[in-house]
Amino acid sequence: MKKELVIVIDFGGQYNQLVARRVRECNVYCEIYSYKTDLEKIKAMNPKGIILTGGPNSCYEADSPTYQKELFELGIPVLGLCYGAQLMMHVLGGKVEKADVSEYGKTELLVDKTDSRIFKGVSEKTIVWMSHTDYISKQAPGFEISAHTADCPVAVAENEEKKLYAIQFHPEVLHTVEGKTMLSNFVLGVCECAGDWKMDAFVEHTIQEIREKVGDGKVLLALSGGVDSSVAAGLLSRAIGKQLTCVFVDHGLLRKDEGDEVEGVFGPNGQFDLNFIRVNAQQRYYDKLAGVTEPEAKRKIIGEEFIRIFEEEAKKIGAVDFLAQGTIYPDVVESGLGGESAVIKSHHNVGGLPKHVDFKEIIEPLRDLFKDEVRKAGLELGIPEKLVFRQPFPGPGLGIRIIGEVTAEKVRIVQDADFIYREEIDKAAAAYKEETGSEPSWMPNQYFAALTNMRSVGVMGDFRTYDYAVALRAVKTIDFMTAEASEIPYEVLNKVMNRIINEVKGVNRIFYDLTSKPPGTIEFE
Ligand code: XMP
Repeated sequence: MKKELVIVIDFGGQYNQLVARRVRECNVYCEIYSYKTDLEKIKAMNPKGIILTGGPNSCYEADSPTYQKELFELGIPVLGLCYGAQLMMHVLGGKVEKADVSEYGKTELLVDKTDSRIFKGVSEKTIVWMSHTDYISKQAPGFEISAHTADCPVAVAENEEKKLYAIQFHPEVLHTVEGKTMLSNFVLGVCECAGDWKMDAFVEHTIQEIREKVGDGKVLLALSGGVDSSVAAGLLSRAIGKQLTCVFVDHGLLRKDEGDEVEGVFGPNGQFDLNFIRVNAQQRYYDKLAGVTEPEAKRKIIGEEFIRIFEEEAKKIGAVDFLAQGTIYPDVVESGLGGESAVIKSHHNVGGLPKHVDFKEIIEPLRDLFKDEVRKAGLELGIPEKLVFRQPFPGPGLGIRIIGEVTAEKVRIVQDADFIYREEIDKAAAAYKEETGSEPSWMPNQYFAALTNMRSVGVMGDFRTYDYAVALRAVKTIDFMTAEASEIPYEVLNKVMNRIINEVKGVNRIFYDLTSKPPGTIEFE
């Protein structure tokens, strides 16, 4: 099924994963490799096309990332984007120079070669996203200019016969209005891919692969109830049934009713055939966390305790053949095994690998998928939408949404407040959608309640109270690296405030967190 492969060669650009995703949106399988990858290895993969990404360097400088000329002589179509375009020109004898003015932002592109295969179905004047300081001042021999902009004489150059295309702008970002068409013209048109890589086929194929790999062996999976481990559990269960054992540790820091929901889907009365072990370790965690106030210390305890419990359970089960993990493609790329860009995500790895589990091999059925593809696979497997479209939720759970010491009482407060908040946001969003047919502009990408460690005086009926303040967080973000507070309508916030004060004992004040990231973080710890 992976026979039709397009390779993205990563030169350190910030959009490298986006390029691969866009290719997959054309239903063509795509993988990212560093520019350091050997040409022989690339040849051996027999790709239908190669895409060179952008990158922060200047291609004419001696120690900049480059690629040997032979890459362009394989007879395989190559598309260079931004740095990749400049590199292609540089290596093949064109000229790249520092521009007087760097071009940044939305720019009008004027198509010169209207019959170019890249521009099939694209307007003659179209808006594209530019971001460069160097520019191609002369295209390489054998290339013709197929588009330009006011500041960029060679915005697109091509050698039609050799199927080489150099694009100065970024078709992969949405600001390039017709970028998807251009990329699909390359992938489906120039590379002649069939575009038959679909999720149902992936699921069937992966189930077969798992069966072949596992044989009659035993597999152990730590199920957190998050999207990735749930989809991994679904796939493995469909492939090998009871040869799979899932250990679900309820650390008492999950959202309201979440432990029971996970059990409902994967437990004995659920829809999957597997051995399900739920460890109710709530009290054990609360005991461990007693008196601990420092966020990093809490994270560490929660992570270590998880490993310990998992190891204890594994010991009871005895030796297994495989340890399954819900690793997904961005994890692979970001850990440096795939592409070139270094995204720092290490603080999220709370657990690490258990050391005392007796297994022979690791199995990672989602290793090739992006998050949205994991979700599609989840739906394909019949995992409920509620679980599949779950918000990101940190491994240490509510432990890091409670400022100061974690106690069972505080967990109850934050669970109940958070439940009400999410319910009201979802209700308001659904009502808006019902009325207008679209999602509200304020719809946050992540929203939750946290418990501040502040208590203050209030009055309820005839009584003075001395209770906690709850903080409401809601952010709009694309990459979770930067974020802004979402503009939730005042009446929604007001309703949430009323309900939490009335329904959740121990709370007498509500704050809305306006902080963006940076300087804040998305979590509230
Ligand atoms: P911050 O708070 O760093 O969060 O702005 C960015 C995104 O990462 C999530 N997050 C975590 N996810 N384990 C996780 O699995 C963690 O320890 C963790 N800490 C933060 C956070 O929810 C947000 O989506």
